[in-house]
Amino acid sequence: MARANVYITRMIPQETIDELKKLHDVEVNELDRALTREELLKAVKGRDAIISLLTDTIDGDVLDSAGPHCKIVANYAVGFNNFDLKAATERGVVMTNTPGVLDDATATHAWALLLTTARRISESERYVRDGKWEGWAPMAFIGQDVDGKTLGVAGLGRIGKKFAKKGIAFDMDIIYTNEHRDLAFEKEFNARFVDKETLLKESDYLSLHLPLLADTKHYIGEKELGKMKPTAILINAARGPLIDEKALVQALKNKVIFAAGLDVFEDEPKLAPGLVELENAVIVPHIASATIQTRLAMGKIAINNVISVLNGEAPQTCINPEVLK
Ligand code: DGY
Repeated sequence: MARANVYITRMIPQETIDELKKLHDVEVNELDRALTREELLKAVKGRDAIISLLTDTIDGDVLDSAGPHCKIVANYAVGFNNFDLKAATERGVVMTNTPGVLDDATATHAWALLLTTARRISESERYVRDGKWEGWAPMAFIGQDVDGKTLGVAGLGRIGKKFAKKGIAFDMDIIYTNEHRDLAFEKEFNARFVDKETLLKESDYLSLHLPLLADTKHYIGEKELGKMKPTAILINAARGPLIDEKALVQALKNKVIFAAGLDVFEDEPKLAPGLVELENAVIVPHIASATIQTRLAMGKIAINNVISVLNGEAPQTCINPEVLK
């Protein structure tokens, strides 16, 4: 196989880059930041393959800039709302993602957010670090119980399922919404399939595990927040635009719900005005898959996909399989 010209839009684990370099010429964006649109358009020119990030919009213009030799864009993420799949398919470019390997890391991270918000860990830690603690206080940092509560899961894909399963350890009642019922899951975890209205009204903890699509944008807005319990906690480690962030800020301010744990935001890295000041919001910078093992596994899938396609073979995780026909 002739050596191809591969571009990686930002540093990913070095081991995976070294592996790819054994077979192909690889250039990596050395800047410690995402490329601007202009930089991206320029950097992809003449490449045979691209490994992109979820922060890179890969549309027709980028693919045209890459040119007719570009055979694959491999996203270093499971989510691919940054891809224009139609534009890629029209140009015969294979698009791939990294499903499967980040399910546990993401579900565990959603749980970390849940426990942190329920037990007010972030704000109480800030309090101690700020030197404000004067000793045990009966009414300080009162949070919410987790054990035995109702765990609402919006979207029962791989990550949603892993997240729900972990609720069993806390003796939780699991309710879920999904495109389809999963009877085996219901039986195994005594889970209940409900409509969105019931999910909003009954969840003590509501965690979003939906893909970002036109009809899931603002899945949670002012109306939905108004239906939730005042003691409820909302968790989002999926995609920011699933929540109307401005409406959430108002709801948290006015104690419409108890708290929110957020890994993702509507317009990253910008935050809705007022969010950062709210003690009942736990906010972390889109790190759900950020473990050494998971990021390495994501890198392996991305490079294997590139190697396969450049070799004329089907990739492991194609998201526009019609181009392979
Ligand atoms: C993804 O993969 O889609 C996550 O958001 C980042 O790992």
